[in-house]
Amino acid sequence: MKVAFLTGGGDCPGLNQVIRGAVRVISNAGGECIGLVEGWRGAIQGNTMPLTIENTDPIIDEGGTILGSSRTNPYKKPEDVLKVIETRKRLGYDALIAIGGDDTLGVARKLFEEHNFPVIGCPKTIDNDLSSTDVTFGFDTAINIVTEAIDRIRTTAKSHRRILVVETMGRHAGWIACYSAIASGADYVLVPEEKANIDEMCDLLAKRRAAGKKFGIVVVSEGAELPEGMVTQHGKLDDFGHVQLGGIGETIAKIIEERTKIETRAVILGHLQRGGSPSAADRILGTRFGVHAGRLVVAKDFGKMVALRGTEIVAVKLADAVGTLRTLDLGVLAETKEFFKS
Ligand code: F6P
Repeated sequence: MKVAFLTGGGDCPGLNQVIRGAVRVISNAGGECIGLVEGWRGAIQGNTMPLTIENTDPIIDEGGTILGSSRTNPYKKPEDVLKVIETRKRLGYDALIAIGGDDTLGVARKLFEEHNFPVIGCPKTIDNDLSSTDVTFGFDTAINIVTEAIDRIRTTAKSHRRILVVETMGRHAGWIACYSAIASGADYVLVPEEKANIDEMCDLLAKRRAAGKKFGIVVVSEGAELPEGMVTQHGKLDDFGHVQLGGIGETIAKIIEERTKIETRAVILGHLQRGGSPSAADRILGTRFGVHAGRLVVAKDFGKMVALRGTEIVAVKLADAVGTLRTLDLGVLAETKEFFKS
């Protein structure tokens, strides 16, 4: 049995731990593993690297992906889908483990449904926006990074009596922003799940300043929705048609300063949130996903994705797992807002 692996989309702490876990299970079963380099581009072009217990065992603490990643979409050009199929024949692999978010897994699903391609999916993204799994690996590390960054930002905000607006990633889901706002005791959070209430935010910040609070922290998700049609998107599209987000933090900082007359700065945390070593929780989740993905391959139970339900790792159909964005739990948002009322 020869098994190929690829990692697609934005990288994320925990990818290497999935690879390590699955390589171990497949090797234990006597299989051979290869990596397809740089996401679906590797599946199209056939660029590979060997994956063994020896070269994956030491990557338990490594962030990113040893395979490289890309946002290549084989379905953008019909000839690329055929190349994926031909390349599989040429390389002679019997199964593929595709580790990625909704776009990568959407391709896996189509290949399985349209070409009976023997594929297993594994859900990754710092955005935590995949349905069918309680959580994606990478999210825990990201919120820890944001929380630590805000702890640092708070000290300089205090010294200078400023308001600091911290922009987080997360695309159209507010998980990272909301969870890190809770963990850092932010004064306000703006998420894509509801239209920004600028008046409420500025009134609260002004009220807290008047009451003696010498600094303010506002967390804004990159995909937060502004009123009055304010544009924050750069307009560049990737292979899957997604707009590159970023920059809303600067807009919010200007609005706050204008309205409250309190000096305000913006910090865009950007790719810092995806970098570095995974947290223990993400190492464990990535490893468990990898072990179960490996077991599904050995059992030839294709067209499935591994998922976390409670504390159990389960297999769900790829068809049920992709295409629906899992946005922030509004109950958690309501809990967060208790701290904005007084
Ligand atoms: O999906 C993960 C993510 O980090 C998003 O939060 C963010 O909008 C996007 O990827 C950034 O993508 P890129 O690395 O292509 O700039």
